[in-house]
Amino acid sequence: MNLKPMKYNPKILALVCTYCTYTAADMAGSARMQYPATVRIVKYLCTGRIDILHILKAFEAGADAVLVSGCEAGSCHFLEGNLRARERVEYAKQLLEEIGLGGRLEMFEVAASDAPKWVEVVKEMTQRALELGPAPLRRGQAFHPETLAQLEKVVET
Ligand code: FES
Repeated sequence: MNLKPMKYNPKILALVCTYCTYTAADMAGSARMQYPATVRIVKYLCTGRIDILHILKAFEAGADAVLVSGCEAGSCHFLEGNLRARERVEYAKQLLEEIGLGGRLEMFEVAASDAPKWVEVVKEMTQRALELGPAPLRRGQAFHPETLAQLEKVVET
């Protein structure tokens, strides 16, 4: 039996590369484009730096869904970082499926000039999180501050 997902405010953690997706997100904000305030961004130099453990840490921090977004194929400033990230995301999806978090992770490519696509990505993941309902590791309305700080610290190293 399919239960209707309860109404809640999903939390999306976005692990993005600074060169493309972050620039697009920044542009969307500057242009005052409207999109759900569900997303919190963690900025990486390149998505190639994102480890599977970071993705798991994002869920531990209480994310209902996690998105990874970097440069388009062929545009990575570190040549193949986005390709490596995609491999890790695909593997992480399998792990998440096994532990009951399937469907809550996706990878996107958003070019620096494509603010409208960023808006669509956030809307898509928000919709997905709404349909899936709150994640089992969710801890209230806010992200778990210590776990999020651990993740952000890893990014700085
Ligand atoms: Fe953007 Fe590598 S620099 S994904």
